[in-house]
Amino acid sequence: MKVLVTGGAGYIGSHVVRQLGRAGHDIVVFDNLSTGYAWAVTAGELVVGDLADASAIESLFSAHTFDAVLHFAANIVVPESVANPLKYYSNNTRNTLNLLKAIEQHGVPYMVFSSTAAVYGMPEQTVLTEDLPLAPINPYGASKMMSERMIMDLAAASPLNYVILRYFNVAGANPEGLLGQATPEATHLIKVACECVTGAREGMSIFGTDYDTRDGTCIRDYIHVEDLAKAHVMALDYMANGGQSQVLNCGYGRGFTVREVIDVVKARSGEDFPVQETGRRAGDPAALMADNQRITETLGWKPDYDDLDTIVQTALDWEKKWQRLKKENNKNQ
Ligand code: UFG
Repeated sequence: MKVLVTGGAGYIGSHVVRQLGRAGHDIVVFDNLSTGYAWAVTAGELVVGDLADASAIESLFSAHTFDAVLHFAANIVVPESVANPLKYYSNNTRNTLNLLKAIEQHGVPYMVFSSTAAVYGMPEQTVLTEDLPLAPINPYGASKMMSERMIMDLAAASPLNYVILRYFNVAGANPEGLLGQATPEATHLIKVACECVTGAREGMSIFGTDYDTRDGTCIRDYIHVEDLAKAHVMALDYMANGGQSQVLNCGYGRGFTVREVIDVVKARSGEDFPVQETGRRAGDPAALMADNQRITETLGWKPDYDDLDTIVQTALDWEKKWQRLKKENNKNQ
C-alpha cells in the first residue's frame, strides 16, 4: 500500500515506519521535525512540513495517491497541555481536521489514528475496556478525544475506514539499537529513569507513595514500542482485508508500580541514582491497565516483548547510544 505517515520521524512513528518498510509498503513521512529527527526515518521518503499548513497538505495529497494515512503527529505532554491548552487544540485537534479534509477530498480509504488512554480520564476501574465513557481530565486527552470523534463522524459520512489505537504507556526501543525515544525533555517514567543511569539527569522523583496499590505508587501498563508498531501494521492489513472500523486499546493488560519500574532500571543497569519521594502529580490515576481482548481478537495481535526487563533493557541500550551520539554531535559542531 502507499501510505502517508504523519509524525513518522518521532518516537513511535519511526518504529512503525521501519516495520511498514519491512512489510513492503511504499511510505511517505510528513513531519515538521519539532520533536522528531530526519535520521529516524529509515524507510520511504521524508517530506518536511506542518499540518497547520493546508497548502502543504494539498500538495502532498496531489503528488501522491495514498491508500492509507497513519496519523501520529501530535504534542503529547500532559502538564504542557494544561499550561498551554490551545497549543494542543491547534496541533492535535485542528491539524487532524486539516488532515481529514484532505483525506475526504482525495477519497483515502483507510486511516490509523494514534489515540491514548488519556481519553478515559480517571476511571473507577483499573482495567479499561474501549466502551467506557470518555472523560479526559486534561487538554491533551480532550484534544485526542475530539480527534477521535471527527474521524468517526467522517467515517460515518464517507467510505473512510479507521482503526483508532488507544495507547497505554509506551516504552522501550528497537532491539537492534537503531531507534528509540529521543524526545527532548521527556517526562515519561522509563525514559526519565534511563536518563538517570546515563547521567543526563542527576536524580528523579516518585510522584506519590500513598496510592491504594501494592506499594503505594501508581500502576501503569507498559507496552513495548515494537509490539505497538506491529499493531499498526496489522491494523492496515485488517482494513485492507475488509475489516470494519474499530477502536482498540493497546496494552498488555497487566501493570507495574513506579517503584517496580525504578528497581528494574537499577538492576538491569547496575547503577544506583537518587530517587526522591514527593507528593502526587495532579491528574494521576492510581492504576491503569488495558483490557486487550478486542485487539487480540480483532487483529490477531500477540505481543512479542511482554516483559518489563526487555522493555527496560532496550530503553537503556538506546539511552546510552543516544547520549553518546549527542555528545559526538556537540563535539563536531
Ligand atoms: N512518574 C514518577 N516520576 C517521574 C515520571 C513519572 O513517579 O519522573 C510516575 C507518574 O506519576 C505515573 C507513572 O510514573 O504514576 C507513569 O508516568 P508517565 O508520565 O510515564 O506516564 P502517564 O501514565 O502519566 O502517561 C501516559 C502517557 C500519556 C497518556 C497517559 C494516559 O505518557 O501520554 O499515559 O493515561 F496521556
